[in-house]
Amino acid sequence: MAEENGRRRWQLVLVASPLQGHMTPMLQLGTYLQSKGFSITIAHPEFNSLDTFNHPDFIFLPLPDNLSGPGSFTSFLGFLQALNNNCKPHLREHLVQIMTEESVVIIYDILMVFGGSVAVDLGLPSIIMNCSSTAFFPAYQIIPQLHQEGRFPVHDSLLDEIVPELKPFRYKDLPFIDLPTEDATESAKMITPATPPSAFIWNTLEFLEPSALTQIRQQYQVPIFTIGPLHKTAPARSTSFLEEDTSCITWLDKQKPKSVIYVSLGSMANLDKNVATEMAWGLVNSNQPFLWVVRPGSVHGYEWFEFLQEGLVDKIKVRGLIVKWAPQKEVLAHNAVGGFWSHCGWNSTLESVSEGVPMLCQPFSVDQLMNARYLSHFWKIGIEIIVEKTEIEDAIRRLLVDKEMKQRAIEVQKNVEHALNHGGSSHNALKDLEEFILSL
Ligand code: UDX
Repeated sequence: MAEENGRRRWQLVLVASPLQGHMTPMLQLGTYLQSKGFSITIAHPEFNSLDTFNHPDFIFLPLPDNLSGPGSFTSFLGFLQALNNNCKPHLREHLVQIMTEESVVIIYDILMVFGGSVAVDLGLPSIIMNCSSTAFFPAYQIIPQLHQEGRFPVHDSLLDEIVPELKPFRYKDLPFIDLPTEDATESAKMITPATPPSAFIWNTLEFLEPSALTQIRQQYQVPIFTIGPLHKTAPARSTSFLEEDTSCITWLDKQKPKSVIYVSLGSMANLDKNVATEMAWGLVNSNQPFLWVVRPGSVHGYEWFEFLQEGLVDKIKVRGLIVKWAPQKEVLAHNAVGGFWSHCGWNSTLESVSEGVPMLCQPFSVDQLMNARYLSHFWKIGIEIIVEKTEIEDAIRRLLVDKEMKQRAIEVQKNVEHALNHGGSSHNALKDLEEFILSL
């Protein structure tokens, strides 16, 4: 039997989602737990673009999935269902082999629900890891109730109203607002664990999401570890699927302090040519320097930024720089960056608030709508925009000159630092998590 210091070795099997915004925090969590002496296996669907060479100390377990990505499915739910069905048998087989030798705990991404069902089948402890904001969880849980009471699908007249059970969110902020009823109810069923896990890990901070955390604590009588922001607690080596263009840091070095607007819409959002062109004009007309990540293939029908007319490209070159993928955490920490135009994915949100950078919020789907609401109306460090309707250049200038918003962003940043310091909420949650795993 594998033993260390007279006790069985702990093998933590982290079941990761193949999406960039989920893989990154899972690898960060693995890095932290490994530094505490646990052995880490990353079980992941085969088709993702993870560079395993960046993480030589982990064991990687590719799970045959028979898939090539979400693109070949008509709905994201269909993709997730296929992923869960196809990956389950291999994970089960692997666990059966190792569980006689080692003490196994499964930590599974909230979307990789097969991790939970395999744990129940085999009688292993399991912990759910959530890589999005906490708020999206009670929002999904409430779908059946909204449906029963005739509040979902949401009538137009309700869209701007606050959902009484989910303050401060409006109906139009709900992450499933655009889904057909059946997909929404199926999604709710999917992420609601049939058997409660041993615990939850949330990549968030207590002070950012008090109401959502209270709701979950009332619902589940298991420990909830709020250990975020993971990019600060456990910086991992590069987790990017795309190559980071570091030349933009040299470009940032030449810009004035707090003058640059950084633009990135994450790893999944796709745009129409018209919206992307409007964004370009807004940036040019703001007369501010800007660093714009245009992910290859993210504008429908184009490989990169060929959708921009030549004259516009010349104007962009005066104050702007376009890259395919940036070292985002380094960019946001750079003194030249004064604002972040973002889709408000949860990682981007945490990375920005941790550096005290206020945001322009252009959410697309899922939890991004709720995160944008948090930023603009709860934490008050962001401005919501709709590219087709907002005067973009005005919004950019407001973001960069608004002293009160900047001050609030710095206060939030200080609270994040406080949570990470000795005795802070995230620091304590990490210690508690370690002890909890050893107690299982
Ligand atoms: C997805 C969902 O969109 C999001 O709502 C959910 O909360 C997490 O999963 P994604 O679109 O990838 O996330 O956005 P986000 O969560 O912000 O993650 C993007 C990651 O890519 C961030 O860690 C960011 O630092 C990184 N990134 C992005 C780069 O390193 N370089 C870039 O140029 C752009």
